[in-house]
Amino acid sequence: MMDIKKVVVVGSGTMGAGIAQLCAQQGFSVTVTDISQEFIDKARARIEKGLDKRIAKGKISEDDKKAVLEKMSFEIGNQAAKDADFVIESVVEDLEIKSKVFAELNDLTRPEVILATNTTSMSISAIAKASSRPDKVIQMHFFNPPTIMKLVEIMPGEKTSRQTMDEAEQFARSLGKDPVVCEKEAPAGIVSRVLGQLLNEATWLVETGVAKPADIDKAMKLGAGHPMGPLQLVDMIGLDVHRAKMQTLRKVLDDPRYQHPPVVDKLVEEGHLGKKSGKGFYDYSE
Ligand SMILES: NC(=O)c1ccc[n+]([C@@H]2O[C@H](COP(=O)([O-])OP(=O)(O)OC[C@H]3O[C@@H](n4cnc5c(N)ncnc54)[C@H](O)[C@@H]3O)[C@@H](O)[C@H]2O)c1
Repeated sequence: MMDIKKVVVVGSGTMGAGIAQLCAQQGFSVTVTDISQEFIDKARARIEKGLDKRIAKGKISEDDKKAVLEKMSFEIGNQAAKDADFVIESVVEDLEIKSKVFAELNDLTRPEVILATNTTSMSISAIAKASSRPDKVIQMHFFNPPTIMKLVEIMPGEKTSRQTMDEAEQFARSLGKDPVVCEKEAPAGIVSRVLGQLLNEATWLVETGVAKPADIDKAMKLGAGHPMGPLQLVDMIGLDVHRAKMQTLRKVLDDPRYQHPPVVDKLVEEGHLGKKSGKGFYDYSE
């Protein structure tokens, strides 16, 4: 098995910064990269703010914060990958950009180093085409926020080796996560697909007038033991974000079951985006 000391996280956005912080908290040296100082500064500020909040809540000490930040470095460009023992890519969800990043990482890293992508819904095999060692390319899909959420979905591409799958799983465990492994490539993994269907079906029940939102949510809480109703969850996620996710699932899976109903378009077009706008399937004005 690999001896991982130094991790490089490419992309310092919402997920990249969180994954890098997680690596540092678990004792790994980590460099997080981005394309400009502006993004780097924002990421560092966000991480420090998050750690300060934990100090205020009494969950960690000033020394803990210092120890985490000492394990982290921030860089423009991806040269740090030269010394990486493990790389996690978390740049924007765009195949062209991810492919360019993977081609660069392929040349910079040692041949035995695993190149993981945190893509939400892209084909791992398509991303791996940019690399000369597709057996070492794998998906490690973290959930937001990566420091808190226990799950990592691990998924191979067509050419990913079993050894790479085992090592990615072991690395996820060393980050304190409880991973699941998909046996074959299927864009969007498990959670996005199953949750997408559930939320979509609930919105179709509203569309077709089968029941009111409160009754649909009550049914799922009392009848299926869900902690929160699906329409409450859509309101929390944001109608616009939910719709974009459904559009992506519909496209990448080429499956009409993920087609969202007109009521979702209507709410988004009227600016009713859920909790954040004060109204969605529910009214939060009070
Ligand atoms: N946001 C989520 O809840 C979530 C959850 C799981 C997975 N993901 C996936 O994680 C990835 C990142 O998502 P995000 O929400 O953090 O996006 P984000 O837009 O917050 O961050 C992306 C970052 O990548 C940087 N970047 C772009 N090109 C780069 C390059 N060539 N080299 C280095 N950095 C570059 C951008 O400047 C930006 O800071 C996406 O693939 C997304 O699908 C997102």
